[in-house]
Amino acid sequence: MKLKESIESVRNSFRADSDPFPTDGQSVETLRIKYLGRKGLLSGLFSGMQNIPANDRPEAGQLLNELKHEINALFDSNQNNTDHENSPDDFDYSLPGLKFPIGHIHPLQQTMDEIKTIFMDVGFSVAYGPEVDDDFHNFEALNFPPDHPARDMQDTFFINPKTVLRTHTSNVQIHLMEEQNPPLRYIVPGRVYRNEAISFKSYCLFHQVEGIYVDKHVTFADQKGILEYFVKRMFGANTKMRFRPSFFPFTEPSAEVDIWSDKRKQWLEILGCGMVDPNVFKSVNIDSNIWHGFAFGMGVERICMLKYDIDDIRLFYQGDMRFLGQF
Ligand code: PHE
Repeated sequence: MKLKESIESVRNSFRADSDPFPTDGQSVETLRIKYLGRKGLLSGLFSGMQNIPANDRPEAGQLLNELKHEINALFDSNQNNTDHENSPDDFDYSLPGLKFPIGHIHPLQQTMDEIKTIFMDVGFSVAYGPEVDDDFHNFEALNFPPDHPARDMQDTFFINPKTVLRTHTSNVQIHLMEEQNPPLRYIVPGRVYRNEAISFKSYCLFHQVEGIYVDKHVTFADQKGILEYFVKRMFGANTKMRFRPSFFPFTEPSAEVDIWSDKRKQWLEILGCGMVDPNVFKSVNIDSNIWHGFAFGMGVERICMLKYDIDDIRLFYQGDMRFLGQF
């Protein structure tokens, strides 16, 4: 049978051509086209089937299929050895594209934005102030006595004896009250700096959101109401909270707000607050017989750490994508 000979000769030629099997994509493709292409040798043999006697066809068909399998098998088993870099034409254009990684908002900024939204929803505006400020705005006008320990080199970064990196956002209370007449109602997000030993719980810089509300009939009860509203929106409606008496030079009376952590089975402090001290009003020429106010200040890192159960403040400043990618 003539076809049988042709099959044998294609087999021999394929074995010769494919030994050694080519490694660059272009040559593999050439080999494939020669044998398996639409006008290739194998397809030629299949066309030849028409011309042979009907009773020879089953045998010829079987031989032909065996050859086809042999050829396919060799291509398959060499698939991973092909150097695709040499053959741009091998590129599979149907593959889904690579996604460009897009950045996202840092967890601290997310937390700060959330705090802003919560207060803006009840009528607070957002203001900003200087990170480098004078002693007057950071301390003196806030009723810190001249020998107060917070001015100590331990806690404060001094630029010069009269200029500091602000240690809290409370300096902006003074700027706002100097620049505007009451009533005023602001929150002030920003960076603050403290010369503290760096550890899992403290860093040389962190963020605060300050709040100040001055009007004629502002009471401590208003403050409690606003802060309770804040806590429930930030941490959930069932959050347990308490006001604990405290002290700040610029508020009287002063308090700290704690929230209960079921997980840690303890109260955790989230902010300081109080009624604006009459001495503070005096330093900005506001009549404390007419105007009253409350102020509060919260640490953004602390709130973010509580909310997402983060146990090391330094994570916020290391730019490690394994951490940041989770938010
Ligand atoms: N400035 C205080 C702090 O940094 C927080 C505070 C702000 C307390 C406003 C009372 C009123 O700890």
